[in-house]
Amino acid sequence: MTDLEKATKDLINKGFLDIKTPSDIDYAVEIKKLCKEKNAVILAHYYQEDAIQDIADYVGDSLSLSQEAARTEADIIVFAGVHFMAETAKILNPEKLVLLPDLKAGCSLADSCPPNEFEAFKKQHPDHLVVSYVNTSAEIKALTDIVCTSSNAKTIIDSIPLDQPIIFAPDRNLGAWLIKETGRDMLLWDGACLVHEAFSIEKILALYAENPDAEIIAHPESQAHLLKVAKYVGSTSGLLDYVKKSDAQKFIIATEVGILHKMRQLVPNKILIPAPVEDDNCNCSECHYMKMNTMKKLYLCLKHELPSVNVEEGLRKKALVSIERMLELSK
Ligand code: 13P
Ligand code: SF4
Repeated sequence: MTDLEKATKDLINKGFLDIKTPSDIDYAVEIKKLCKEKNAVILAHYYQEDAIQDIADYVGDSLSLSQEAARTEADIIVFAGVHFMAETAKILNPEKLVLLPDLKAGCSLADSCPPNEFEAFKKQHPDHLVVSYVNTSAEIKALTDIVCTSSNAKTIIDSIPLDQPIIFAPDRNLGAWLIKETGRDMLLWDGACLVHEAFSIEKILALYAENPDAEIIAHPESQAHLLKVAKYVGSTSGLLDYVKKSDAQKFIIATEVGILHKMRQLVPNKILIPAPVEDDNCNCSECHYMKMNTMKKLYLCLKHELPSVNVEEGLRKKALVSIERMLELSK
């Protein structure tokens, strides 16, 4: 046996490492048990796999998840979402342990805004106020005046005096949609989400031609040509509310497909059609970052209390200001 094998065996014997998980393990039962034992809460986004949404204590959109993170009394927050969401929870709760089942669960939109480049851009426009979408790193939040999500972006922009110039980052599609909705001329950072840019307008229109009784609904991270033909544009929670309230019986839904789980529960008798993507050979309407979290990883992270998300205190304090402004404006 090599030294590495011996060390690994030792860690397994001491219960620190769980490489071989028994195949008959009931993750849902074990996760619930661990949550109770450790006073942990599971916060999950609507894009998480079905089983994770079902086991979570709270399922929501980015705004409601950060509001929930701000009010929880649990000792441990397990974030079943992506890194920027867990990081926001940690910024709000420095004393709590915040776990993310897979630390590699990032976000293409957050990645499209590197802090050093954004800082240089901001310096070129010193008179501008910075509004950033929550899908950003803590470094970008520290360079931001007010954070927003797709649920409250319009309210946040409307709260800013009309003569105040604004930089909006990082999503060019959400930004362009907000310019149209609010009538404000904002400077946009050129970032985007790979999932929402993968939809095919031609295929969506062809599908609509076959289903003229359907309503096209879309997340504002989608491209302008798609938002233009959408009957309703809104955040994940907005889309869920819309299918419930609308008289239509059929919808073509342009956002990450994970949302269909909650939608099917809300409107079991309505027909929900995921919007088609450009490339037939890829699951492009699935956010592969969101789908990195699995029940097994959720169980292991609770059991070992790893991996945790941490933010350096100086950075945390700076990022907190822009998040708190958003929460204040969203009460
Ligand atoms: P919501 O704020 O609408 O939940 O969106 C989060 C997200 O990552 C969309 O891609
Ligand atoms: Fe980021 Fe897009 Fe995934 Fe949302 S769907 S987490 S914006 S990569």
